[in-house]
Amino acid sequence: MNLGVMGLGHVGLVTAVCFAEKGFKVYGMDKDKNRIENLKKKVLPFYEPGLKELLLKNFEKIHFISEIKELINNTDVIFLCVGTPPLPDGKADLSQVEDASREIAKNIDKYVLIVEKSTVPVKTAEWIKKTMKLYARKDVDFEVASNPEFLREGSAIKDFLEPDRIVVGVESERAQKIFEEIYRDFNAPIIFTDIETAEIIKHASNAFLATKISFINMIADLCEKTGADVMKVAEAMGLDKRIGREFLNAGIGYGGSCFPKDVKAFYRIGEEHGVDFNLLKCVDKINEQRIEKFVSKIKKVLWIIKDKVFAVWGLAFKPGTDDVREAPSLKIIKRIVEEKGICKVYDPYAMNNFKREFGENENVIYVSDLYEACKSSHAILILTEWDEFKNADFRKIKELMETPIIIDGRNCLDVEKIKELEFIYIPTGRKGCGF
Ligand code: UGA
Repeated sequence: MNLGVMGLGHVGLVTAVCFAEKGFKVYGMDKDKNRIENLKKKVLPFYEPGLKELLLKNFEKIHFISEIKELINNTDVIFLCVGTPPLPDGKADLSQVEDASREIAKNIDKYVLIVEKSTVPVKTAEWIKKTMKLYARKDVDFEVASNPEFLREGSAIKDFLEPDRIVVGVESERAQKIFEEIYRDFNAPIIFTDIETAEIIKHASNAFLATKISFINMIADLCEKTGADVMKVAEAMGLDKRIGREFLNAGIGYGGSCFPKDVKAFYRIGEEHGVDFNLLKCVDKINEQRIEKFVSKIKKVLWIIKDKVFAVWGLAFKPGTDDVREAPSLKIIKRIVEEKGICKVYDPYAMNNFKREFGENENVIYVSDLYEACKSSHAILILTEWDEFKNADFRKIKELMETPIIIDGRNCLDVEKIKELEFIYIPTGRKGCGF
């Protein structure tokens, strides 16, 4: 069985490379010819730990192509991994899914199983089927299935190859058998459902994880007002197996290409179907408020932002990636430069993407290491919890700074160590020191 992957973004490329690792011959298609040319030259469009090595190892098994005909002629199963970005009203823009369905419909002449892998609203499969029938030139033999992906950027390879579970929504025994074959070498439970259920599982999982984050951020605010410690609250809550410790890290909130978009889209889906999803509206609101809360901490200690110099540590929306989509860094730095503060920014991987996304600004200075960022600065702002920040030489850093202030948006430093060095340390939802 040959597998096809349509759309070679984060999900698509990881899917293609990991299926090749599992022994399949894979055809990876993307409309972006430049991306295909680069992939043929083994140049990846983004950073993901371990992906390049796995690509090189399996290079002979993956064909990078840009023609739909070639994809259809050579594959039995096509995983749709095209983008589903947000529209201004929060709904998912499904034009790339529609476009892919139309293209497949116009070109197929044998059975193909079309699999939704990107995050899509419930009932998208229905639309794919309708679209296929509308544009097919003759009576065509195809099926649609849903096999949502749960990989995280930064640990995508492991998440794909060693998933907690595999979710598959199918409508026939034939399709189910195909998936049993595809996932025969994976050591994870496979949950077979109808398609609508599988579609909802994906959105519900992301929305639930985002809810955990906003919940703990709300608790962090209460901890700050009452002198309690959110880290201890999370630790103790997390020991209850029904709750679990993961995704209870308070800070500047969730970013990335998934949670912000998926929470909004899922809220809209509830609304469209007449179901009250206000809970998710609050999750989104709490997350958006994290930015202003962080900025108000800067003002609380430094009073005026104008002409202050900030060492900004971390631009990526989380460690292990160069992705800055919906990263809190974009909004926080925007707020600072609006008030005429100066940001000396550093990130080990995400500088170029940040530059591209944020654009030129005379108050944003890109520096090559974390110490350089600290020179003559009034405060360090930690926006991504990269390991190199945790292990930095804070004695040296204190000497470099104008005023020794650290505002930690990710609670990633050891309070005791920082206290010893007499920094003014302002974490999130826990007792800091010196101010
Ligand atoms: C998320 C899900 O975790 C994946 O399961 C899913 O497959 C993916 O979306 C997707 O839909 O494609 P991802 O966006 O890569 O993965 O990143 P996460 O690790 O989930 O982190 C998202 C954001 O939440 C980051 O900004 C992170 O810093 C923040 N976060 C995470 C917190 O603020 N606190 C936490 O406790 C955990």
